[in-house]
Amino acid sequence: MSGEIINKLENVTINDKADKGDVDDDFVDPWTVVSKSETGIDYDKLIKKFGSSKIDQELLDRFEKVTGKKVHHFLRRGIVFSHRDMHSILNQVEAGKPFYLYTGRGPSSHSMHIGHLVPFILCKWLQDVFNVPLVIQMTDDEKFMWKDLKMEEAQKMTMENVKDIIAIGFDVEKTFIFSDLTYIGQCPEFYQNMVKIQKCVTFNQVKGIFGFDDSSVIGKVAFPSVQATPALSTSFPHIFKGKKVPCLIPCAIDQDPYFRMTRDVTPRLGFKKPALLHSTFFPALQGAQTKMSASDSNTTIYLNDTPKQLKNKVNKHAFSGGQSTVEEHRRVGGNCDVDIAYQYLTFFLEDDDRLEQIRKDYTSGALLTGELKKILIDTLTPIVTRHQERRAKITDEVLKQFMTPRKLAFDV
Ligand code: TYM
Repeated sequence: MSGEIINKLENVTINDKADKGDVDDDFVDPWTVVSKSETGIDYDKLIKKFGSSKIDQELLDRFEKVTGKKVHHFLRRGIVFSHRDMHSILNQVEAGKPFYLYTGRGPSSHSMHIGHLVPFILCKWLQDVFNVPLVIQMTDDEKFMWKDLKMEEAQKMTMENVKDIIAIGFDVEKTFIFSDLTYIGQCPEFYQNMVKIQKCVTFNQVKGIFGFDDSSVIGKVAFPSVQATPALSTSFPHIFKGKKVPCLIPCAIDQDPYFRMTRDVTPRLGFKKPALLHSTFFPALQGAQTKMSASDSNTTIYLNDTPKQLKNKVNKHAFSGGQSTVEEHRRVGGNCDVDIAYQYLTFFLEDDDRLEQIRKDYTSGALLTGELKKILIDTLTPIVTRHQERRAKITDEVLKQFMTPRKLAFDV
């Protein structure tokens, strides 16, 4: 991984690095996330570098006022930490006007990992709270282009990943999931929007944003326009009937470069800029220096891992912030800021009081590393097992329902 990073940095100019999120010791782009710090990416610096806005208490209060609901623990705990134009979406809701959600997945493995749940769980919560439609783009074209994959393999992974996504609990009446390799050929309006976007962005601009160079295949160079297109509601005539409806995109912050480009283009095509909600990265088992990645099984807990695999991975690989002997741990205490078991609990243990007690006990040394890992295993195992049970019930018929272009339960 670090070799890959060094090569990337050598191939870009100083300005490119600034654009690509190279914040001191941190590097974030859609393909690579690394930090030299044990505590991971410095998200405050990243906000400054990317030019997004921090989610502050005022925004959280407004969320609660507009929805009448307590905000999701991802928002309360700063896991969803940054936004672009979220206030304009809340203005829209207050005015009784519609918006829609757009998110996506690049299918690079047969199973998604637990970190991928984060933006999708957020989407489900937003869909339920705001009662809005959601479009989910499966970028099998992207993975075909970037990975050593046959097209059929990319398409097969799409179907497997769509099952994982449906199992999160989306409402079929309000959710449209599409594969780029299939849908774009069926929908002239989507392709027309893509071409309009392509006409607005130069090679120089995508080189600056994504680090492409003269040897990049042209499919990669054009791909950002594919990921931008679902942010235009007219790309889905069966849902929005040609109307311009504002869009909100939940994603982890690695995807922001695509949407900085998109936000530059949409006003020129007569659309509002899409709003964004950015989440932090669910870290790799080995530590917060990098994100969990589906392509590296040692760093990753997959949604199809067995309880035994999950337990072994946590016990064997999860980086510990504890001390090397029990005596020393009791005396000095553990460091929650770097401890992966604790970090994972902040994502998946919903009970705020219990989490705070665990933090205090681990920090004081009252709770040992093995005990903390056991709490994590006991928290994650039912989440993963229940996910697998729901996934097993998803038939080809259900897949087809979600993936058929159709009217959703939504009035424009
Ligand atoms: P992909 O498949 O890399 O990731 C899917 C979604 O998961 C987020 N993500 C993570 N979140 C938390 N912790 C992690 N370790 C982690 N790894 C990935 C990603 O930010 C993303 O939200 N090109 C995209 C697919 C895409 C997309 C979109 C994503 C197409 N349109 C619109 C978001 C919004 C991709 O390959 O995502």
